[in-house]
Amino acid sequence: MTTQATSSATPVVQRPSARIPGPLAWPLLGNVRELGQGAFHEVLLRLHQRYGDIFRLRYPGGGDVVVVRDPDALKHILQTHYTRYRKGRQLEVARPLIGEGIFISEGEFWLRQRRLVQPAFVRPAVRALAPRMAEVIDEMLDGWEPAARSGEPIGVKAEMMRLAMQIVARTMFSNSLRPEEIQEVEHHFTYLLTVVSDRSSSIVHNLFPWVQKLPTPANRRFQKAIRALDRIIFRLIDDRKRRGDYGQDVLGMLLRARHEDTGQGMTDRQLRDEVVTLFLAGHETTAIALTWALAMLSRFPWLRAELQAEVDAVLGDERPTAAHYDRLTFTRAFFDEVLRVYPPQIVMLREAAQEDEIGGFRLRPGQALLLHIYGVHMHEAYWDNPAGLDPKRFPPYGPGPKHKFAYLPFGAGPRRCLGDKFAHLEGTLALALIHRRYELDLVPGTPLEPDTVGTLRPKGPVPMRVRRR
Ligand code: HEM
Repeated sequence: MTTQATSSATPVVQRPSARIPGPLAWPLLGNVRELGQGAFHEVLLRLHQRYGDIFRLRYPGGGDVVVVRDPDALKHILQTHYTRYRKGRQLEVARPLIGEGIFISEGEFWLRQRRLVQPAFVRPAVRALAPRMAEVIDEMLDGWEPAARSGEPIGVKAEMMRLAMQIVARTMFSNSLRPEEIQEVEHHFTYLLTVVSDRSSSIVHNLFPWVQKLPTPANRRFQKAIRALDRIIFRLIDDRKRRGDYGQDVLGMLLRARHEDTGQGMTDRQLRDEVVTLFLAGHETTAIALTWALAMLSRFPWLRAELQAEVDAVLGDERPTAAHYDRLTFTRAFFDEVLRVYPPQIVMLREAAQEDEIGGFRLRPGQALLLHIYGVHMHEAYWDNPAGLDPKRFPPYGPGPKHKFAYLPFGAGPRRCLGDKFAHLEGTLALALIHRRYELDLVPGTPLEPDTVGTLRPKGPVPMRVRRR
């Protein structure tokens, strides 16, 4: 494994008035020195080792954040006292893209939207999508035939992004988007996400958030991409409305939803924000997890052999359904483990809405927090050999985490990932179907370095050779 976990397992008991420990910060530059010492997730892990499960960090040009990986504190923030916290200003940088979508909205408004969308993501609804997902995956695999014949490597990261985008588009929004539109949406998202992620780590943007409103060429390009994306989404909404028949998919559900008190539906703007949010939340994370999974299967052939044996025994030549998913126990456990070692979302952002206390430390209202998913996944007190890749630590083979809040790839509590079952089904089926037909090998010498800002994605295209089994 490339990732080496190091952690201090001993809980630090402090008085409530104790100062939260952390590296010394420079005025203006904050902890730029520490932050420059490697990938973000590795830096955070080292700081945990030094300062404990809860420590303070200062971003260059920004305020203090408190980084948390103590599972009891995580439970307190995400579940027991979740109303004392909000997503907060750290997410503001994403607002020009996702507006008031469910990922970012707060309070009553969020709850109402969540209740509207949730029925599409409950277990039976998601399980029913298995055959459609399998169809989309098989189409991608057909497209790999020429590469399998010529030996030309494919860029796995881009392939997985395309696949996850196609699955969202064709399961949640039926086939209402034309293939070239799906491609265009993906193209805009890739660019827009890079800008959002650059802005979130830029000193200038942290100090002067208004700079993103200036008519600079870069800002104009960003706005242009948003407008192009919006044109496609509004076209989708418009078409459905004009047809009168809203359809049975997620978009249909959003269109039919009515406010309890006023009887009014969502505005087109709100519909747009939810559709963009689902596209965004629903594709990049799953694609990243799948990319890591394929790379790991190439690195560790004994894991691949076990997965292939299971796939052959369970799937044979049959068309996959949710019943196959249930029987793919090793493949599922492997996907769980990939999500532990490479959680696509390494942190969750929060802000204290009121004064509170976690792990013996007092938080003031407005305090920004990073809930460190990767950190708790690498915690030696809750995982044996956390840096090692071992699918059999998960059920039905092993007990899983020693603390429920030590495994959080999908978050927890009321704001837990809406698409967790969707992503797990999609990931497992994709791994199974890919390995029914092919074997994928990393091109020798391919570095597998993680690149982190918000998501933990591999750097570069991850080229792999495809071989027919
Ligand atoms: C492996 C894939 C995925 C991972 C690792 C992942 C991870 C997460 C995490 C950690 C959160 C919690 C964020 C927080 O509390 O701050 C979240 C929220 C969310 N996810 Fe996912 N996600 C994945 C796939 C999906 C998919 C496929 C969808 C939709 C189809 C989706 C939709 C959402 C939505 C809408 C939220 C916001 C929920 C709310 O605030 O009520 N995610 N996701």
